[in-house]
Formats: sequence, structure tokens, C-alpha cells
Amino acid sequence: VESTKKESWVLTVMAQTPTNIAVIKYWGKRDESLILPINDSISVTLDPSHLCTTTTVAVSPSFTSDRMWLNGKEIPLSGGRYQNCLREIRSRASDVEDAEKGIKITKKDWEKLHLHIASYNNFPTAAGLASSAAGFACLVFSLAKLMNVKEDNGQLSAIARQGSGSACRSLYGGFVKWIMGKDDKGSDSIAVQLVDENHWDELVILIAVVSSRQKETSSTSGMRETVDTSPLIQHRAAEVVPKRILQMEEAIKNRDFPTFVQLTCSDSNQFHAVCLDTSPPIFYMNDTSHRIISCVEKWNRSEETPQVAYTFDAGPNAVLIARNRKTAALLLQRLLFHFPPQSDADLNSYVVGDKSILKDAGIQDIKDIEALPPPPEIKDIIPAQKFTGDVSYFICTKPGKGPILITDEDKALLNPETGLPK
Ligand code: DP6
Repeated sequence: VESTKKESWVLTVMAQTPTNIAVIKYWGKRDESLILPINDSISVTLDPSHLCTTTTVAVSPSFTSDRMWLNGKEIPLSGGRYQNCLREIRSRASDVEDAEKGIKITKKDWEKLHLHIASYNNFPTAAGLASSAAGFACLVFSLAKLMNVKEDNGQLSAIARQGSGSACRSLYGGFVKWIMGKDDKGSDSIAVQLVDENHWDELVILIAVVSSRQKETSSTSGMRETVDTSPLIQHRAAEVVPKRILQMEEAIKNRDFPTFVQLTCSDSNQFHAVCLDTSPPIFYMNDTSHRIISCVEKWNRSEETPQVAYTFDAGPNAVLIARNRKTAALLLQRLLFHFPPQSDADLNSYVVGDKSILKDAGIQDIKDIEALPPPPEIKDIIPAQKFTGDVSYFICTKPGKGPILITDEDKALLNPETGLPK
């Protein structure tokens, strides 16, 4: 390392990466350490202004080891998944020169230089909203920029994949396909963008964060148990998903909402069916999740054409995709009718993200929720049931863009002089 400023420099890069929700699910690996899946999957990237990870990475000759902080707390980097990502990124590093700061780092130097990484989620990690997807994507993307890695986002996705499978789909905005690939080493198991976030910009996404008492089985061990014990998963991977992937790609390309709803709901339900087919069975959805499904199914059936798609990952939260703002507002009315907040709640923290949806739904304050009439499609179900407090809060968002660099140094999570958390 050559430096005019006596080895005292710190070089930093900051990036922001979105999270994503699968509409055709990834569930099951054919290689545990490279994280190679048994089927293709398709996701929609969520708007990073509402859900994202921000990461600052720093390098300095004064650092004595690789260190990482997540939401301000130091976490170990010793895990195999972090080590695999760091090794893959380091091996692709190139020369970096910052004439202004008098910094010159050669390709060879990166093997010895240590890194500091600080990451922050703009949403509660505990809510179970795919924080590992945005997190590993952001780690890989920001390190690639710091180290002047020449690879494109597709090749970076194959590195992020080794942190967490679903992370590879967070390297792009819009709708993204993770191609399972054939290579034993995983070189062709990468993400590709199907369409960008402007292609289907009418869609509105409502997430119901469902209160749950119990700790769920992690995706990693859950899918391992499914592959080991479920006879249904073989049929799903070999016969069902390949056809659905083709149909879903067409539906997205043509903005064919009825087909999109049918495929998304069926695939979520089949994912939970293979969980139930696992021995011992895995339950990710709870009563609240099931009630949300019934509410959406009833409404979709009462209309000429489906209005909303639902999908659930490895937890009870519902992700609901509405065809446009108007249907999203009608959906919110229905959800608030069945799942009103506790009486002491504040509306401002009960619906977060794009709050303008509240105005569209005609809700100005908590009293407007109490005054909501029962949805017409449940008129023969008396009394209309209410489940106060079963939803913690709602997030209103939309399809969003992929990773970006952030140049505003005030926002950095690491001090530019010391390379330690601010
Ligand atoms: C249900 O990507 O969290 O969300 O690869 O073991 O880290 P690992 O698992 P992860 O699994 C995500 C599973 C899912 C479906 C999906 O996102 O496709």
C-alpha cells in the first residue's frame, strides 16, 4: 500500500439495497454450502424508500481485523456464509486509486487489508421481512464498489446468493428471476431482471405484519427438512414450478393481472403445503394469516375478476399485491374492518410506508375505522368478525428499484476518520 498520508487513510463506500418478495417461491437446495436451489424462482423488488438495507463499508491499513455492525451492534463475521461472500468478492478486487486522498491500493493489497462493515435496516428486523435478502445483497454490492470489482450485477448476484439464496434477487429492481442453473459450482445460478420497476407501476403492495408469539423455523433448516422428508417437494420442483415460471413470465410481460393472481396465490399455498408435508410438519401461517386469505379469496370471487394476490413467506405476515391504487384502498378498508388497531393505537404508526393510501381509503383517524361498514361480500356472514390487535401494523409500498450508491457522506454509518460506527 502506497500512501502519501502515512497509512492513516480510511476509504469508504455506501450503498442501499431493496428487499424482495417471491411470487414463485424458492424452497429447497441441491447444494447447501454454495446455496444452489432445486427450482427457479421469481420475485418482485419492494420500494427501498419503505424497506431497504443501507451499508457503509470501509478499508484502512489501520484496521486489524474484518468487523461488522448490524443496526449498531457488532456481530461476528466468522459464519461460513459471510466468509464465502468476503472471499469471493476479495478474489475479484482490482486496483483502486484516490488521487485526492493520496490512496493507491493494488489488486494484491486487498488480500491483506481488513474491512469494516456497518449495516442498517429501515424496518424492524424482528418483523420477519426478508432482512437477510437486502442485507447480503447490500454487503456484496457495496464491497464490489469499494474494491472496484468489474463484474456486472448478474455476477454479483451469484456471490450474494452464497450469503442467502433470496439475496441474489435483490440485485435488481422490478421483477426478477433467479435461474437455478446446472453447473455444480453454481456459476450459472444467477438472477436476471425480467422487467424494471416502471413496467407495471400500477401495482400497490400492502404488507400486514402479523403478531406472532412463537419463533418460526428458519428458512434454511425448514427447507432442508422439507427436501429430506417431503415426497411432494420433488413433484413441485420437477413438474409444477417449471410450468409456472413460464406462465408467470408471460403474465408479467403482458401485465395480465388475473393470471398473476392465480399463479402467485397457488404458489404461496403450495409452498405452505410442502411445509405441511414435511416431517415433522412446519407451520408458518397462523389463524390471522388464514383469515386474511379467506377475506381476499371471498372478495376476489365476488368480483368479476381478481383484485388482489396474496403471498406468505416463512412466517405469518401477509404480502398483498393489488392491481392499482383504487383496489388497494378498497383492500385496506376491508383489512382495517376485520383487523382494527387496539383502541390506544395511533393511526400514524398503524399504517406506515406510503400513508397517502389512508386518504384514498377515506380514513383520517381511528374513528373512521370504527365506522367502516362490513364488506358487501360477507353480508350473509353474521356477525361480521373483528380481530382487534391481531395485525401489528400495515406497510403500504410498491415495486421498486435495485441497488444504488449513496454519495451523501453525512448519511454514512462509519466515521470517515476512524472507520468505526458513528
Ligand atoms: C420462503 O433465502 O432465507 O422466503 O438460502 O437458506 O438463506 P437461505 O434461505 P432464504 O429462503 C427464502 C425462502 C422464502 C421464499 C423465497 O424468498 O423465494
